Amino acid sequence: MGSYSKVKIAPSLLAADFMQLGQQIKDAEAAGADLLHYDVMDGRFVPNITMGMFILKQVRQITTLPLDVHLMIVEPERYIKQFADAGANSISVHIEACPNLHRTLQLIRESACKVGVAINPHTPADHLSEIITMLDMINVMTVNPGFGGQQFLQTMTSKIATLRAMIGDVQGEVDIEVDGGINVETANDAVQAGANILIAGTTIFRHPNGVQAGIDALRNSLEQTAE
Ligand code: DX5
Ligand code: ZN
Repeated sequence: MGSYSKVKIAPSLLAADFMQLGQQIKDAEAAGADLLHYDVMDGRFVPNITMGMFILKQVRQITTLPLDVHLMIVEPERYIKQFADAGANSISVHIEACPNLHRTLQLIRESACKVGVAINPHTPADHLSEIITMLDMINVMTVNPGFGGQQFLQTMTSKIATLRAMIGDVQGEVDIEVDGGINVETANDAVQAGANILIAGTTIFRHPNGVQAGIDALRNSLEQTAE
C-alpha cells in the first residue's frame, strides 16, 4: 500500500436487482460499502442505456452513502447540474466524451461534487497530465464501458501504476477507482498497482450468497497480500 489509506468498496448498482433496488442498497450499506457507484449510459457514448437522474433522486432518499455518478454519455456538461441536484456526491465524465474537459471539470467543481475523470482502456495515462491537479478521482476503466460482467483487462495495471505516480508528483490525495471485471481474482492486482476504490457490480450483487458475502469476499481477497 502507498500513502493512500484504506481501500474502499463501491458496489455498482448496474448489477443490482432493480425490482429490489431499495433493499439491495440497504444490504450494501449494512455490509460495509463505502460508496455506491451509479452508471449512466446514453446509447451514444456506449451502446447501452441505463438510468438517469430520476432514479438517482430516489436512491438519494434512502441512503447516506456517497453516490458516485459515472457519466458514460456524450456532452456530459449538459447534465452535470441535474445530477448534482439529484444527489450526486462525485461525478466522473469520460475524457473521450469531452472536447472542453477543463471547462466541464470546472462545472463539476462549481456544483460542489467531487471531480472525476474516467478513462477508457485505449486512452493513455498522460492524456490526463494537464488537468490532473483539478481532480479528486480518476476512474480507470478496466473493461470497455457499456456492460457489466466483462473480463478485467490485465494490461490496465501498468496504467494504474503510471497514474498513481503522476498523482504522487503533483499532490497527495486523488482516488484511483477501478471499474470493470473486479473480483476476488483481480482486485488485489488493481490495489497493488495503486487503486484505492474497487467498483464491483457482478461480484457483489450477483454473489450466490448475497451482497454481504460478495463484499466480504472482495475484502478478504485483499487482506492476504495487500493490507
Ligand atoms: C461498465 C460500468 C461498470 C460496471 C461494472 O461500463 O462502468 O461500473 O457496473 O460491472 P462489473 O463489476 O460487473 O464488471
Ligand atoms: Zn462505472
